[in-house]
Amino acid sequence: MKLLLKRLHCTYVARVDDFDLSLGLQATEINALRDALDEYSILVFRQQALTDRQQLEIASSLGGSLHRKTGVATLGPNRFGDEALTDISNIDNDGKILSKDDRRRQYGLANRLWHTDASFQSPRGRYSMLSMKRFPASGCETQFCNLYDAYQQLNTPLQQTVNRLVAHHSIVHSRECLGFMFSDAEKNRLKGAQHPLVFMNPTTGRKALYIAAHISHILGWDIPDSRIFLMDLIEHSTQSQFVYRHEWRPDDFVIWDNRATMHRGMVFQDETEEREMRRVTTLDD
Ligand code: OGA
Ligand code: MN
Repeated sequence: MKLLLKRLHCTYVARVDDFDLSLGLQATEINALRDALDEYSILVFRQQALTDRQQLEIASSLGGSLHRKTGVATLGPNRFGDEALTDISNIDNDGKILSKDDRRRQYGLANRLWHTDASFQSPRGRYSMLSMKRFPASGCETQFCNLYDAYQQLNTPLQQTVNRLVAHHSIVHSRECLGFMFSDAEKNRLKGAQHPLVFMNPTTGRKALYIAAHISHILGWDIPDSRIFLMDLIEHSTQSQFVYRHEWRPDDFVIWDNRATMHRGMVFQDETEEREMRRVTTLDD
């Protein structure tokens, strides 16, 4: 089947038009969406008011098991009774806005660092999908960057260097960067995972940098060398020509390939407004 795609950035990101995700996915549609994700890395759907159940089914249809060992689950169970439904919101279990000092809020602030979902797991995250539930009137934005382009634009010696490196990813590390503190018991449940610094898409053969704020160090390197090198790579990868800014609308649904992009939430000025999204992430297994 042929998708109706409208390119939203000159090198990646497409909007899928005339598509109703609530109907469930047929095999031909699954293949078409996976091909489109290999080519565009990010797919934007408008006007999709989906239930949690429908979102979980879409994720399962696209393949892989669902990411349930989220970092935030170590802070306590979510209000949906299924850790595959990640609560990307500023709302607490009683439906009130999270207080300034709420641990879940402070933990979530690290979503504003450039990252890729579930890189601290093995298998790592593959696709994430975010469904807009409560849209704040003042608007909100999530930014993405294209890590195929970022790899392509490294000079050859740097490409050769990153090709042979492996990094340790830890959700504890990205939170501790902001001074968030975990208990020893929480840290014990969040040991992290190791992945090569370069991802090669097995279908297309294209290579991408695989980096995130979760990287604590590069295997075999000293910590300061690792961290300054990673800072340089993130700065390189997030230059404006690689960035797509998604300005959310009510009922938007966005799917992205975590193996080839990073993203970050943008500062949300009026925290008295409700901002609620639901995320499901599949694993690359
Ligand atoms: C996420 C995430 C950013 C945002 O859902 O994985 O990083 O804009 N969200 O809320
Ligand atoms: Mn994220």
